[in-house]
This record gives sequence, C-alpha cells and structure tokens, in this order.
Amino acid sequence: MKKYTLIGPFKQILTMSGMPLKGSLMDEQLNIIENGGIIMADEKIYAVGPYSQVSEEGNNLNAENLLILSDMVCIPGFIDSHTHICFGGSRANDYALRNSGKTYLEIAKAGGGIWDTVTETRKATTSSLIEGVKTRADRHLTHGVTTIEVKSGYGLSIQEELKMLRAIALANEQCQSDLIPTCLAAHMVPKDYNASPADYLLEISTSLFPILKKEQLANRIDAFIEEGAFSPTSIAPYFDSAKEMGFDITVHADQFSTGGSAVAVKYGAISADHLEDSGEKEIQLLANSNVVATALPGASIGLGCHYAPARKLLDAGAAVAIASDWNPGSAPMGNLLVQAAILGTFEKLTNAEVLAGITYRAAAALGLRDRGKIETGLLADLIAFPTKNYNEILYQQGMLLPSLVWKKGRLAVDV
Ligand code: NIG
Ligand code: FE
Repeated sequence: MKKYTLIGPFKQILTMSGMPLKGSLMDEQLNIIENGGIIMADEKIYAVGPYSQVSEEGNNLNAENLLILSDMVCIPGFIDSHTHICFGGSRANDYALRNSGKTYLEIAKAGGGIWDTVTETRKATTSSLIEGVKTRADRHLTHGVTTIEVKSGYGLSIQEELKMLRAIALANEQCQSDLIPTCLAAHMVPKDYNASPADYLLEISTSLFPILKKEQLANRIDAFIEEGAFSPTSIAPYFDSAKEMGFDITVHADQFSTGGSAVAVKYGAISADHLEDSGEKEIQLLANSNVVATALPGASIGLGCHYAPARKLLDAGAAVAIASDWNPGSAPMGNLLVQAAILGTFEKLTNAEVLAGITYRAAAALGLRDRGKIETGLLADLIAFPTKNYNEILYQQGMLLPSLVWKKGRLAVDV
C-alpha cells in the first residue's frame, strides 16, 4: 500500500516544468503555481497543482495531511553536480599563501595543492572519510541540497581510489541525500608514480575501471585537463577506454587554459566543468553540443579569479548548470546557494537561469531524469523556503535558509 501525503498550501510552487534544457531563460518562463499543493506517494510526487484541487484528491486517497500554515515557497531540491567532499586534511595554509600572492599552480608545483590533500587522504581511515562526507552532505541538506555528486581523485592509486569510492558508497548508505560517485583518478599524475603519465592512465583504465564496474562504485569518469595535470592528447586513450566500457565522461575543463572543453565535446561528455578560461571558440563549441556547461563559482571565489562566462554560454545556447566544486583547495566554502546567487549578480543571470542551474540543468549534468522538477512521477525532493516571493531566495544570497526539506518524500529538515 502506498503512503500518500498532502502538503500545502504553498504561497508559490516553482515547478521548473516546461523549461528548455539549453539556452537563456526569462523569469516569465518560470511555471509558478500560486497557492499550490503537492501529493507525495512514498518517495515520488503523485500530483501537483492548485491546493483546492490537490487537497480534494488527497482526501479521496486518504492522504496524511501536512498543513503549511505560514507563507512558504516550494521548489525542487537542489542538486550539486560537482564536489570533492571526500578528503582528509585542510588546505588553510595554501589559502593563506595564495592570498599572499602565490598562484594555485605555483603552490601545486611546490608540493602543496592537490598533492597535499592526496597525502592527507591516504593517511585517513575509511571511517574518518565517511564521517567527513556525511558531515558535509548533512550541512548541504540543511541548505536544500538533496543530491550531491562526489568525486574521488585524492587517492591516485588503485587501492587509494578504491578506498575513497568505497567510503563514498558507504556514506551514501548512511546519509539522507543521494551521493553520485565519480572516479577522478585522473586528477593529476601522482608524484610517487615511477613511470610515465601514460602508464599511470593505462594502469587505471585497465585495472581500476573493471573493479568500478564490478563493485558498482562509479558510472562516471572525470579528468583534470590542465597544465600540471593531463593534456588533451594524453587523456585520449583513457577516455577511449572509459567510453568503450560504457562510463559517462565529465571533464575539468578550461580552468586556467583552454583545451578541456574541446575534449569534452569530442568525447560526448555529459558535462564540462569550470570553463573560467573559455573564450568565444569554446563557448560556441559547447553551445552546439549536448555537453552541460557547468560553472563553479565557488572555485572563482576561493581562488579570487573571474567567473565562467555563464551569460555568454547561455546566450549562445548552452545548457548551464552551477555547482559548488566544494573541495579543500580551491573551493572550501561549500555553500551552493550563496555561490549561485553571487554568480547571478556578476554574470547577470536571471533568477530562472540560476535556479535552473541548480535544479533540472544540474540533474542533466548527472544524467538524472528523475529529479530537478516538481512533476508527477519524479522524486519528492522538495524545499520549502519561509517567504511568499520566490525572488527572496536569490535576493538574500543564500542567507534565507529552508524551513523544510523533503528527500524522497521523507521530511529530512524541519526547522
Ligand atoms: O575542481 N581543478 C582541479 N580540481 C579541483 C581542485 C581540487 C583541489 O585543489 O584540491 C577543482 O577546483
Ligand atoms: Fe573540481
């Protein structure tokens, strides 16, 4: 027997329905139900519409009734499609060095940067990694983030990457949010690897990829294409084998130099993320593809550099998602809504574009069709913000916190 729950009335429900995946959006395109209600059936949305109609349906179904007595705006649970929240240690010292004038790449060359986190993550026990992921995922949940992609990439050996991905899988079982794992063994060439970068990639693809499949640890393969990491040519055989084995591909692209976005397009990647350095050529390339262009404002804020050209990407017709990149190095803040709101002010994005970027467009960046909108049959991942006007959510730049968050129909946050 299904358990039906009727919730509402909400002052506004932003369903995010009927909006295109690609290109610019006007706020007028937002589908807003005034005085709306939602019926949940177990973990899914059963009905959404004006409260008067939906409540009648709820009565017929003998639905449990959760009355919303104050002004609330309901929107789909946020989706953070790019994070590195599984890690050991802290890079507070790197942050101080950067702000004293050293660059991210200089710090990395001097032995800090990603390698420092690799050292600390290798020292960490599986249970401490699980605890770290759970703590960060729970904090995200209080901000309305109900689905979180989590990358490996601080192990950089077969055993250590497996340790991370197994920790992410266990954390997923223990927390309320959905964690979507991605293998980022191609984050950088491990400093202690005694053969060529090509040998490292070959070893990962031949020995680690099959285990990922067998243990169902990840369906997604990512690589950092950048000076000091992997070049477009060196990554080609790696992505070839990933594709052959049926993995989705995603790329850390065009962060400090271009090249990565072209690789993403060539390999039909599901997303190309960062894009701070993308110019006209890259923008056109992405806009004419099905690759979701993901802006990571948290990395721009963390590194003190410019934002990805989200406005130009949208105007050119690209699908733009926004993710936090939460990681101990370049993006330590980990507050998706703050960052998305700030990207909106700098890039002049409409509220519809920002909200699409952290809901259904972010779902597309993860290949998830079952969430990101409030529609019958989709997951009941919902946020209720204590306001009567949806514009307050971005206007308050992340400081307006959800009162209620449902994850798969279960009330996960109630403050
Ligand atoms: O997306 N750019 C490469 N990787 C991460 C940073 C990881 C780190 O600095 O630890 C990023 O910004
Ligand atoms: Fe990243």
